[in-house]
Amino acid sequence: MIAKTYRKLIAKQIAQDFKSAIEIVEAIVREPLAHEILIRNQFAGVNGGFDTLLCRGEVPYVNLAPPFDLGVEAIGEVVAVGNSVAEFKVGDAVATAMRGGGYREYQTIDAKLAVKIPKATPEILTLVSTGVSAVVGLEKAGQMLSEEVVMVTAAGGGAGHIAMQWAKMAGNHVIGTCGSDAKARLLKELGCDRVINYKLENVNEVLQKEYPNGVDLVFECVGKEMFDICVDNLARRGRLLVFGFVSEYGNSLEKVEQPRIYDKLFWKAASVRGFLMPLYSEYVPEVRERLIEKLLEGSLKVIVDSAEFRGLESIPTAVEYLLGGQNRGKVVVRF
Ligand SMILES: NC(=O)c1ccc[n+]([C@@H]2O[C@H](COP(=O)([O-])OP(=O)(O)OC[C@H]3O[C@@H](n4cnc5c(N)ncnc54)[C@H](OP(=O)(O)O)[C@@H]3O)[C@@H](O)[C@H]2O)c1
Repeated sequence: MIAKTYRKLIAKQIAQDFKSAIEIVEAIVREPLAHEILIRNQFAGVNGGFDTLLCRGEVPYVNLAPPFDLGVEAIGEVVAVGNSVAEFKVGDAVATAMRGGGYREYQTIDAKLAVKIPKATPEILTLVSTGVSAVVGLEKAGQMLSEEVVMVTAAGGGAGHIAMQWAKMAGNHVIGTCGSDAKARLLKELGCDRVINYKLENVNEVLQKEYPNGVDLVFECVGKEMFDICVDNLARRGRLLVFGFVSEYGNSLEKVEQPRIYDKLFWKAASVRGFLMPLYSEYVPEVRERLIEKLLEGSLKVIVDSAEFRGLESIPTAVEYLLGGQNRGKVVVRF
């Protein structure tokens, strides 16, 4: 039975921390128009960094004034379809990845914005947004090749563990950094060639000693000192992909005046390149299909963190948990 009302998490004000910005509100379940479908969300991906930056008003490419909806990717079940929708029927499992579509119990959207998926599982949820970003980042912005040295930072996290496996599948030697023994074990199991637990080993020393020719491609998620170390250890014609800077999300962005790194890049013909998924959206459908295929054939393992977050009320704790560096794999909330 379809509920008459549902709840969603919104940012009611701009605030430095996620918890102070948000509120749960009730809304009417809107029946779909002819071209729309109504979805009951079952799982949503938690993107603690993006969520926090949005609530602080620090995501420059979206200019949002509160109140605004939160959450991005979700997976759910179609519960009603508009009269002219032929591609979906009630009961279909679907994925969506739109800003504002994640942290809510129901969504009524244009059918074109949903994608049919084989099953509503947290593993597929992980792939349709985080996994796609990791792969498009590596392949398109990072220009990943094979037989190179690829380094993934925060490799035990949601994006990192997919990037690490993808780089390995492409035939590269892969280094992964993480901050716990449990994540180090996981990365080894997933085939990472050199795991560096940065709490036990000095990343710069390891790279200098074991990779004197440098790293060809860095998938960098962490920022601050980790970013500096990665720049210093780039190989000739090395590429560093700025995928994120999670170490900065819990606090205000550290102000570094005039960080002129051209001398570090020029003499190696190396480069540093930012990556933002919405600016590479044309690659999403093809990459999503490839990822789901790899999952179903068993060559890609998707790790969903074992901490259980249930309902909208659990989202602030999930965001804190992720930004505290505790998660292993993707953090997911269940409705
Ligand atoms: N560019 C894009 O379009 C795009 C899309 C999606 C996500 N992202 C970015 O990808 C990165 C990973 O996102 P995710 O959602 O998959 O998160 P995640 O990697 O699952 O979780 C964050 C991880 O970062 C690591 N970390 C390292 N240093 C940290 C520090 N000082 N403080 C907190 N955590 C630290 C922690 O693991 P260890 O300490 O064990 O390393 C933690 O588990 C983020 O930077 C995110 O913004 C970018």
